Amino acid sequence: MNTITKPLLSVRGLCKHFPVMSKGFLKKQIGSVKAADYISFDLMPGETLGLVGESGSGKTTTGRTILRAIEPTSGQVLFNYGDEALDLATVPLARLKPLRTKMQMIFQDPFSSLNPRMTVRNIVAEPLIIHGLAKGRELEARVDEMLVKVGLRVEYRMRYPHAFSGGQRQRIGIARALIMRPKLIIADEAVSALDVSVQAQIINLLADLQEEFGLTYIFIAHDLSVVKHICDRIAVMYAGRIVEIGTTDQLFNNPVHPYTQALLTSVPDPDPDKRMDFGLKGEVADPADLPSGCSFHPRCPVSVERCRTMAPEFVHNPNGGASCHHMRS
Ligand SMILES: Nc1ncnc2c1ncn2[C@@H]1O[C@H](COP(=O)(O)OP(=O)(O)O)[C@@H](O)[C@H]1O
Ligand code: SF4
Ligand SMILES: [Mg+2]
Repeated sequence: MNTITKPLLSVRGLCKHFPVMSKGFLKKQIGSVKAADYISFDLMPGETLGLVGESGSGKTTTGRTILRAIEPTSGQVLFNYGDEALDLATVPLARLKPLRTKMQMIFQDPFSSLNPRMTVRNIVAEPLIIHGLAKGRELEARVDEMLVKVGLRVEYRMRYPHAFSGGQRQRIGIARALIMRPKLIIADEAVSALDVSVQAQIINLLADLQEEFGLTYIFIAHDLSVVKHICDRIAVMYAGRIVEIGTTDQLFNNPVHPYTQALLTSVPDPDPDKRMDFGLKGEVADPADLPSGCSFHPRCPVSVERCRTMAPEFVHNPNGGASCHHMRS
């Protein structure tokens, strides 16, 4: 018997480059925004991987490209489901459709992602109705069961999103995502807009639901302190690339990459679109016009001559790895 557990997801060299077009009548491609560039990692079933980095580092693009909400430029996203390993990046859309129920996204702002004209019952029931997975009494029972699981009162099912607090609205968003019994959840800044005490409640809820439903998470956040409590491993992104990946313990106690080290001392603004208060000089690299060599070199406090001309290789270790010339010297 084969007892080796396979990763649920193996991402290999995944790229999303947005074309930059010239202005005027005859549009020509004059460059590209390397929003996600050669992203590679494995995600084991039941694991939680954090994806962290400053605003514009490519976290959302990576998440959306994995789920093929946007078309990848190149690379593989192997999704092991049952006995099959399908490449989500290239599988025909007709075959992708049934798999979409197995992968769901939870967003930062539950208010704008929930239709204000739909009742909670309709918001949570809609995915089951669209996919024809339940109707009648079974449908109502599944909605009510899910509301209870996410900590909402069944009596509120006919209310509209505006009647709820931010934390409760995020619970509605979670109920809608989980009603399809997915395997993989990508939570994109799911708690960033919430007060700190409510953040903790939602993180605890996600952790409980993970255990109950055997979920695997990619947890995107710009704030390392948020991911610390829920993630098994963390990937740090800078200018479209993963610069370091390791266990949460490793990353917090023994960060290798100078950018990870800087991130650990930063004081993030609750708004994921605002700049962080860094001890670093300079602006975050522009993925449409990346610096030569190591993209981080203009800001790196320990850069050396070759950092300007030579991109460091990613050096692997059993739990991940990092890309910095100092790892080899
Ligand atoms: N549709 C798009 N067209 C062009 N550039 C984009 C598009 N979406 C995102 N970008 C750019 O890609 C980079 C990464 O963005 P994003 O993935 O949203 O980062 P993050 O989620 O880490 O803040 C940014 O420079 C952003 O401006
Ligand atoms: S390769 Fe050079 S510039 Fe890049 S992080 Fe390492 S020391 Fe800094
Ligand atoms: Mg984002």
